[in-house]
Amino acid sequence: MTKLKKMLKENFNVVSMSNDVQLIKISEYPSQKIEKLKSIFWESSVKTDFESEKKKSEFEYKYFDFYVKYFPHLSFAIESDNHPIGYLLGADQTTPYLDQLEMQKYVAEFEDIFATYPAHFHINLSENARGKGCGQIALQELFKILTDQNCPGVHVITALEHPSQKFYEKNGLAPLKTMKISATQIVILVKSL
Ligand SMILES: CC(C)(COP(=O)(O)OP(=O)(O)OC[C@H]1O[C@@H](n2cnc3c(N)ncnc32)[C@H](O)[C@@H]1OP(=O)(O)O)[C@@H](O)C(=O)NCCC(=O)NCCS
Repeated sequence: MTKLKKMLKENFNVVSMSNDVQLIKISEYPSQKIEKLKSIFWESSVKTDFESEKKKSEFEYKYFDFYVKYFPHLSFAIESDNHPIGYLLGADQTTPYLDQLEMQKYVAEFEDIFATYPAHFHINLSENARGKGCGQIALQELFKILTDQNCPGVHVITALEHPSQKFYEKNGLAPLKTMKISATQIVILVKSL
């Protein structure tokens, strides 16, 4: 690590991984830039219809603010050339937070897997930032951070054959179990760290 990168990491909560891709802790992020991350969140969300504003806020909390609150050391804005292009929200534990995450019924089925692969994450990039290698750079950095803190493994749950499944597999996650929930087939992918 160069002296400049080391200084940035220690003093400004910035992880500089390449010349133009950086992870910046959201807990240190200016509020107008957080708004940009939230707009990327809603751009990428499959769920957009809510019966009330309260339900909408609860959804945003569950998939975004929750991570910044409980895992500030793993919740990052992804920047390229000093502009927010996405976010990566990590959690180094899952089981103790199941109630708060209000996960779905299927999570109980996967619970035994969380002992070996306790970490999970959510990643989203704005549309014009995709396909340029930024997601992979960011995710590999999260894996390094989790490895450094002796986390044994990571999992991610998605709809089977969702386009992101290929991305996860390129990043070393392998499908372990599938399950049908209503009409949707879901898959849990895992990786030892
Ligand atoms: C999924 C996502 C985070 C990937 O980040 P990215 O920067 O676009 O991906 P990268 O450019 O780093 O790709 C890394 C590898 O994964 C592959 N990959 C990435 N997205 C892919 C996709 N949708 N379909 C197939 N392969 C994909 C790339 O081809 C690349 O492989 P290669 O090294 O052989 O070329 C990003 O595309 C995104 O935010 N998508 C929309 C939201 C989403 O699906 N989020 C995750 C689930 S909620």
